[in-house]
Amino acid sequence: MKLKGYVHYVGVNDRNKHRFEGLWALPSGVSYNAYLIADEQVALVDTVDAAFLSEFLDKIDALGVDRVDYLVINHMEPDHSGSIAQVRQRFPDIRVVGNAKTLEMLRGFYGEAALSDNYLQVGEGDVLKLGHHELHFHLVPMLHWPETMVSYDTTERILFSGDAFGCFGALNGAVLDTQMDTTPYWPEMERYYASILGKYAAPVQTALRKLSALPIDMICSTHGPMWTAEAGRAIETYRRLSAGETEPGVVVCYGSMYGNTQRVAEAVAEGAAEAGVRTIRMHNLVEAHTSFVLADIFRYRGLAVGAPTYNGGLFPPVEHLMHDLGERHVKGRKLVCFGGFTWAGQAAKKLQAHHAKMGLDLVADPMEWKQGASADVLERGRALGHLLGKAVLAEQ
Ligand SMILES: Cc1cc2nc3c(=O)[nH]c(=O)nc-3n(C[C@H](O)[C@H](O)[C@H](O)COP(=O)(O)O)c2cc1C
Ligand SMILES: [Fe+2]
Ligand SMILES: [Fe+2]
Repeated sequence: MKLKGYVHYVGVNDRNKHRFEGLWALPSGVSYNAYLIADEQVALVDTVDAAFLSEFLDKIDALGVDRVDYLVINHMEPDHSGSIAQVRQRFPDIRVVGNAKTLEMLRGFYGEAALSDNYLQVGEGDVLKLGHHELHFHLVPMLHWPETMVSYDTTERILFSGDAFGCFGALNGAVLDTQMDTTPYWPEMERYYASILGKYAAPVQTALRKLSALPIDMICSTHGPMWTAEAGRAIETYRRLSAGETEPGVVVCYGSMYGNTQRVAEAVAEGAAEAGVRTIRMHNLVEAHTSFVLADIFRYRGLAVGAPTYNGGLFPPVEHLMHDLGERHVKGRKLVCFGGFTWAGQAAKKLQAHHAKMGLDLVADPMEWKQGASADVLERGRALGHLLGKAVLAEQ
């Protein structure tokens, strides 16, 4: 599939994997994007997951290239680097292009043979001339690994961005944003960001500042559509998410065994609605896939978390969410917590302790109740939701 200049898409779709990185649900699959620049010098930009090696090589063969001179590695996570050793076997004269950290990882993952002594180490601002195309390399560390790099083609103004601006969701026929309805991919970009890049707001902002100097006509990331008409929207999405900008909505997350915490969660949602909040997302953490919960929390300003006390601690699915939030950049959210118990309450205290570490804005004391969700407990839940709703709307 030709994109622009001599650049072709040679990526593949994975519609079988259930969980990306063993964690993040893939209801619509995922693409592993790679690109072949069939210039005077032929360059591959990234490879694909090892499971798709033969399909990948077939796509390269179908372009009629009999040699590949360079393999540019923007990111070493195995969904892209997994077939490097085999690509080298197929094209023995290929020269690997990567930065110092990439080359060290290549040796560590795939052995000396994957690197051989035929490599080109590049650093910030280095240039590789292919003929018509000219690749300039920029280091963007911690997007989301230390070696992450982008390659910018000054001739056609194409940014090969690695995982940045990528999204979940396999590609269904077309690969260019202008040739498809991109609607389903935008929430999937946010879910990808929240799951995988959510810890790295500061490196994302640093990278955006660096990239702002480049005129970009096309973004070729390693997952999801190639962005041309909507390249600006992709960059704006990253700016907004990394800046921590939120919309006025409330996310209610809870776990429950016998329904008491769930009933309080419903009351909290009712209270927020009464306060005038129109977007309220409920997540039963026993059932929900974490990445969807995280994506909502990244988007909306208000967060309510509820849990039963369980073996002297938090009910495990809620503990898990608090752990995931603790290692992400979700500052400045308005938060309320609610927790029940039967003989010795811990849930509300533990939620408060997590909040103290996370730097969220607790708008009310944690709500705690003993045993059943009685009418007055539900009334307290409604009042808590109302307070949260008011705090969320006050900040517009
Ligand atoms: C396996 C298990 C462990 C529990 N551990 C505690 C505990 O350590 N302290 C306590 O006060 N209550 C404990 N409870 C009681 C629950 O916190 C209480 O029943 C709560 O109302 C359950 O909320 P739910 O109806 O939303 O599931 C435990 C309950 C279960 C089933
Ligand atoms: Fe990655
Ligand atoms: Fe990736």
